[in-house]
Amino acid sequence: MSTILILNGPNLNLLGTREPALYGTATLDDVAALCKATGAGLGLAIDFRQSNHEGVLIDWIHEAGRAHRDGTLLGAVFNAGAYTHTSVALHDAIKGASLPVVELHISNVHAREPFRHHSYLAPAALGVIAGFGIDGYALAIEALARRGAAGGG
Ligand code: DQA
Repeated sequence: MSTILILNGPNLNLLGTREPALYGTATLDDVAALCKATGAGLGLAIDFRQSNHEGVLIDWIHEAGRAHRDGTLLGAVFNAGAYTHTSVALHDAIKGASLPVVELHISNVHAREPFRHHSYLAPAALGVIAGFGIDGYALAIEALARRGAAGGG
């Protein structure tokens, strides 16, 4: 179990220029570099991906479920963007793939509009990290690594 998948959903390719007051000025490439450095410090490889398409994210979750079953993937950190608040299909994909997932948000969704307060992913996730900016990705990787070290791969 030596890899963690980082999945990013819609509009996260715009990080850096997208509503910087909410999401900061780091780009998605900066986030990938942070994740890879965090993983390297923990002896873990990072598979970093982004898609604006729900079906692509679902296919990647299925693929990750198989890798988890095969023992090569510890789990996934998933920032599903707005699909968090709309997608029963992503909920079902996580459940169906039996994939350990940490739900991640850069912003504190609970301090924002009411439509961001509900998550379809949270009931299928191990836990949720929100509101710590891009540092949340490092915290989520650490959480999966600790869980793996404790035998909860
Ligand atoms: C987000 C929060 C979502 O509500 C929003 O739709 C995003 C980004 C975050 O990282 O804070 O696209 O997931």
